[in-house]
Amino acid sequence: MIRKILKWTGISIASLIVVILIAWVVFYIKVTNRQNKVYNVTVHKVNIPTDSASVAAGKRVFDMKGCGGCHGANLEGHTELDDPMIGRFSGPNLTKGKGGIGADRTDLDWLRALRHGIDKEGKTLFIMPSYEYYKLSDQDLGNLIAFIKAQPAVDSDLPEDKLGPLGIVLAALDKIPIAPAEMIDHQYKPRTEVKKEVTAAYGEYLSMSCSGCHHPTFKGGESPVPGGKFVADISSTGNPGKWSDEQFITALRTGKTPEGKTLNNAEMPWKMTQNYSDDELKALHLYLNSMK
Ligand code: HEC
Ligand code: HEC
Repeated sequence: MIRKILKWTGISIASLIVVILIAWVVFYIKVTNRQNKVYNVTVHKVNIPTDSASVAAGKRVFDMKGCGGCHGANLEGHTELDDPMIGRFSGPNLTKGKGGIGADRTDLDWLRALRHGIDKEGKTLFIMPSYEYYKLSDQDLGNLIAFIKAQPAVDSDLPEDKLGPLGIVLAALDKIPIAPAEMIDHQYKPRTEVKKEVTAAYGEYLSMSCSGCHHPTFKGGESPVPGGKFVADISSTGNPGKWSDEQFITALRTGKTPEGKTLNNAEMPWKMTQNYSDDELKALHLYLNSMK
């Protein structure tokens, strides 16, 4: 009797392991196929200026979009996560220095990355949130690229990106953005320029940086980061709907909310929003309050 139980327990465990292995292999194939898909896109030409005013305007876009959080303040690159189970990924060194990709990227390559989320070969970038940038106006994007190209070379070699065994599962379940190119409308017709004034339209343009975490409805909910903090409602029905513009500005510059909460920059990137001007924050507040 005991032998029989042991035998069947053994068979059950072995079958379970086989099922898990098969599921993992299926996930692996699916994820690899998504990463190897080649996107044939028509890249819309953008003028990349070189004058110092445009480069300075580009630095503002870089700071307002929080690029430095992943690519480093000097564009030297930064390892974001290094976990044997989930994987390892870094924002690459964007300069022309050793270990940097800047030396062999053309204007077309920069546009491909930021407008379509794809690399030189037309394959999706990994993790890089281009889906939050592709709607940037030609002017803002041109300035941003001008800024990147104007930065001094920094030598910084980073280890190669890879997905760990758990990372494959999380990627297959769309808990990690492994294929940003899938999240982009490749036919999108970008605007030449956006009027920077206190209007809900400008607020909507700026809110591209918020919808990835706060969801397109801005009602908050589950975090896009595995195990990340629950994201707050920032539409008219959330706390910011009750705040004055001044309170909204203080919260997004200092991380201190009128309710006495201190926002943690690692969860809610207020060090990014502290780069927004008063008018930019007012425009955002106006737009968010229009979300019923
Ligand atoms: C959440 C982290 C993160 C943020 C924020 C981020 N990036 Fe990236 N970026 C990455 C990662 C990771 C890669 C590497 C992707 C790959 O090699 O597949 C990357 C790659 C790139 C590339 C290289 C594309 C290529 O041709 O290989 C460029 C250019 C780039 N990012 C620019 C930017 C700019 C500009 C911003 C801000 C507007 C930005 N990134 C914000 C993580 C990030
Ligand atoms: C990386 C994800 C992420 C991004 C990007 C992000 N947020 Fe948040 N935000 C959060 C999380 C998580 C919280 C909740 C923090 C907490 O509860 O401590 C939050 C909280 C807030 C709060 C406080 C709400 C309250 O009730 O106290 C405001 C206001 C806010 N976000 C505005 C914005 C705006 C505006 C943007 C875009 C410019 C933005 N956030 C972008 C993750 C994000």
